[in-house]
Amino acid sequence: MTAFARRASGRHLPFAAGLMALALSAAGCGDSLGSGSGAGSGDAVTVGLLLPESGVYESLGKDMSCGWDLYLDEHDGKLGGKDVTVVRADEGEGPDVGVEAGNKLLTQDQVSVLVGVVHSATALAVKEAAVQRKVPFIVANAGAQDLADGSEYVWRTSFSLPHLGGSLGKHVAESVDGPVYVMAPDYTAGHETVQGFRETFEAAGGDVAGESFTPFGTTSNWQPYLSKVKASGAKALYVFYAGGEAVKFVQQYAKFGLGQSVPLYSPGFLTEGGVLAAQGQAAVGVQTSLHYSNAIDTPENAEFIEAYQAACEGAVPTAYSVQAYDAAAALDLALTEADGTDGESIARALSSVGEIPSPRGAWSFDENHNPDQVYYLREVRNEGGTLANVIVEPLTD
Ligand code: PHB
Repeated sequence: MTAFARRASGRHLPFAAGLMALALSAAGCGDSLGSGSGAGSGDAVTVGLLLPESGVYESLGKDMSCGWDLYLDEHDGKLGGKDVTVVRADEGEGPDVGVEAGNKLLTQDQVSVLVGVVHSATALAVKEAAVQRKVPFIVANAGAQDLADGSEYVWRTSFSLPHLGGSLGKHVAESVDGPVYVMAPDYTAGHETVQGFRETFEAAGGDVAGESFTPFGTTSNWQPYLSKVKASGAKALYVFYAGGEAVKFVQQYAKFGLGQSVPLYSPGFLTEGGVLAAQGQAAVGVQTSLHYSNAIDTPENAEFIEAYQAACEGAVPTAYSVQAYDAAAALDLALTEADGTDGESIARALSSVGEIPSPRGAWSFDENHNPDQVYYLREVRNEGGTLANVIVEPLTD
């Protein structure tokens, strides 16, 4: 256990318990890590973990699962001193699979807390069901603005997409001499990110050359869209893509020959983790903003990376891993103080967890229950043969 993890809860764990948890989760089971007697039984709590195990966002789900498992592994399979049973469900690629899986966790498995969800449209529907049943929902990725609106049952450990999109607007307006084209998948996340970017970019004097929204999950050829970018005379391109779409998009952008003439900007998902390795040299020079980079140079982050690599087959942690790790940390703090393990007690306790120690740097929930946090300007560089999202500077707007 890292000294960093000890500060989060003041607890130690035997390594064997963590290994057992990992083995059970690899078997796809609900992994009972203690002698718990089910949801809300006083000394035990059942958590529903809803993450993509298939589709465009499968790799994001894997990173989040690793981050969540690591936190439990470091805390003896307990949160707030209570035994935790984790019931997993596949979020799939979109709401058609994810909403049903969320409903199953809420109704059939009767979880006390719901954690996870990558896709914003899925999360918005799952939120309705969770709030109706008074089950706290800790959103560990999906960034739609309306998800975190101060509702007492919804807390987010990731970001708000309009904020994240907006974090890069001023920098792009000041760096690019001419109009900028914008492009994103045609669903909530793409639209909200582009809207956030446009607001701060245009307020800083930037002009938009044109915009395209590409069908989510089914676009495999970006050439027609890249042709439009070229024809528009844009001097730069701002996009939102993640997971499998991020890999294909960056490879095609470089192949199309825009890499030299039309610099690429994006939220950091475009070049995060495994997708960066798959993109290779095509990603060098891409500038992004995000609340985390494994290049953050702090002892806390170094300890986290070491522990994560040991637990997750050498993989390097991503923002997704940290969001899920922090969801476990927030729940740990809440369950330490909660009067009971029913949804209402946990939700009440979440409202007073205070500062959450994190590999990204300590943060707190704001009044809408989003993280109050710093976004960093990052650039993909080749550092001695290894591609990295190097931190350039914190973005203050
Ligand atoms: C979202 O749908 O909100 C979403 C999906 C993937 C990301 C970020 C946000 O990387």
